[in-house]
Amino acid sequence: MRDDIDEILVSEAQIRRRVAELGARITAEYRSRDLVLLGMLNGAAVFTADLMRRIDRPLRLDFAAADSYGRRAESGRLHWRLDGGADIAGRHVLVVEDIVDTGKTLQGLVERLGQRKPAGIRTCALLNKPARREIPIDPDYVGFEIPDRFAVGYGLDFAGFYRNLPFIGALKEDVIRRTS
Ligand code: IMP
Ligand code: MG
Repeated sequence: MRDDIDEILVSEAQIRRRVAELGARITAEYRSRDLVLLGMLNGAAVFTADLMRRIDRPLRLDFAAADSYGRRAESGRLHWRLDGGADIAGRHVLVVEDIVDTGKTLQGLVERLGQRKPAGIRTCALLNKPARREIPIDPDYVGFEIPDRFAVGYGLDFAGFYRNLPFIGALKEDVIRRTS
């Protein structure tokens, strides 16, 4: 598995530090609010589990899963495999995502969740690839900006694998070519 990694983009220690910083910021900015953490499966499962333990506020946890219809999906066209976030009316939702690439998934999520009349929606992405953005949307909280490489590990996958790597690495180009 590690032989398929070209270079480490974010180390375990860097992740640990940054997750603690994000948790501290969220703790400070959500004082006396009714917070629902909505983790997006499967990619944000690891990040959500770590982040929630760094937020020192009362919160509820829920998960949802949405796939965009292929890589060329139109904005907002999401297929919900698990339609979580039912109980968000009147509450402050913090959507936790693995990565924002074109922005289509995040945009679709915010649109859909907005229909359920939450008190507010903010978004937190572990990784951000601003170079590939097609929809002008930015997460409110970002762990790391990364270059235009295919990232795996710490929850992120390629063809379903590599999610259990404890760091974030860039996949070797020949591995991507061989599989896709
Ligand atoms: P977007 O809708 O183009 O912003 O894509 C977001 C989704 O594409 C993420 O939730 C990931 O599932 C997937 N994705 C985009 N870039 C990467 C990457 O570098 N590694 C793993 N998954 C990615
Ligand atoms: Mg995803």
